[in-house]
Amino acid sequence: MNSLALFQEGATQHQLGRIDQAIACYRKALALDPAFPEALHLLGVGLFQQGDRAEAIRLIEQAILLSPTQADFYNNLAEIHASSGDPLKAFFTYRQALLLDQQHPQASQGMQQLRNTHPNLPVFRNLEQLNHGMARHTFPTLALSQDDDLHQPTDQLIQLALKAAKHAKNIDLSVIAKRFDAESAAYIQLWPGEHYKLLAAFVKILQPELIIEIGTATGASALALKKFLPKKGKIVTYDVIPWNQYPGSGLAKDDFDQHLEQRIVDLSNPVLAETQRDDLAKADIVFVDAAKDGLMEHFFCAFFESVKFAAPCPLFVFDDIRMPVMLELWRSIKHPKLDFTSLGHWSGTGLVLWK
Ligand SMILES: C[S@@+](CC[C@H](N)C(=O)[O-])C[C@H]1O[C@@H](n2cnc3c(N)ncnc32)[C@H](O)[C@@H]1O
Repeated sequence: MNSLALFQEGATQHQLGRIDQAIACYRKALALDPAFPEALHLLGVGLFQQGDRAEAIRLIEQAILLSPTQADFYNNLAEIHASSGDPLKAFFTYRQALLLDQQHPQASQGMQQLRNTHPNLPVFRNLEQLNHGMARHTFPTLALSQDDDLHQPTDQLIQLALKAAKHAKNIDLSVIAKRFDAESAAYIQLWPGEHYKLLAAFVKILQPELIIEIGTATGASALALKKFLPKKGKIVTYDVIPWNQYPGSGLAKDDFDQHLEQRIVDLSNPVLAETQRDDLAKADIVFVDAAKDGLMEHFFCAFFESVKFAAPCPLFVFDDIRMPVMLELWRSIKHPKLDFTSLGHWSGTGLVLWK
């Protein structure tokens, strides 16, 4: 018998469940024609059925290298990987089968089964799962190239940011953190990842006389900004909710002195914003951390464009600039700016010299 006839005989025996006989025929066929892909493939399948996984994989891989367009070869190899506890290899092997034949029934079924049995495989993870267990917090983000933004950081801004990062590394906010619950306390001390130490560092370096904060909330950032405030310095922090009505506030009555004032003003209301114009104009640092709804920040920026600042270029810090709704705002800022997220808040820290 020639190699083809031996192979066909082997396949017939195989279908009848006579694996030993089938293997013997495939071996004889391969003795006559060692580069017979179909025989290598089915010999591999037969050996796998008999428990010789390693040899089966070796033979089917050899068959694939000789005849790379047969979806069945990939499918059978994928099944071996799936049953050998290597679901990632199984995924990528099924994928090859389906690239060759989109409708391949066994490969489609194998892939579906893999998804059911290994929902945590990185290739099957979805955003829902990222939110539950893989990271503390996630949301979908978009990436924009930065090199083509017309408003690049100046050397002054880069130097300031780097200096602040160096300081941030050594700043201890444990005294402030103690005022909060354990979860918030951990965030306050976290750097990089959260912005509190970076904010304190900017104050340490710039020694501002007036800081404007939009968004007091629990007071964590106001307290961080206050830590290195110079004797003549003052923070005016705006919110629409009074500090003593804010759940989990770390602020106390005594914190409000000549250095810290909270104003309950909705700065997205053009009429009310106007009443604050003269004070805002004296700012050396402005920290924008309000609703981040991608709407009111546009008003804040438009309003600040109309303010004649006393300082030559106050530092603006924008929180959450990588949130999808904030990307457009960040892109639209027409002053020297630097996305400093990796050394600030994970969800986006934007630094601007408001020239
Ligand atoms: C993310 S929190 C601020 C967090 C705080 N800066 C920190 O880092 O600890 C946002 C705050 O902005 C306040 N806010 C929202 N819209 C505002 C507006 N139009 N004017 C002033 N404050 C606003 C909210 O009430 C909320 O307390």
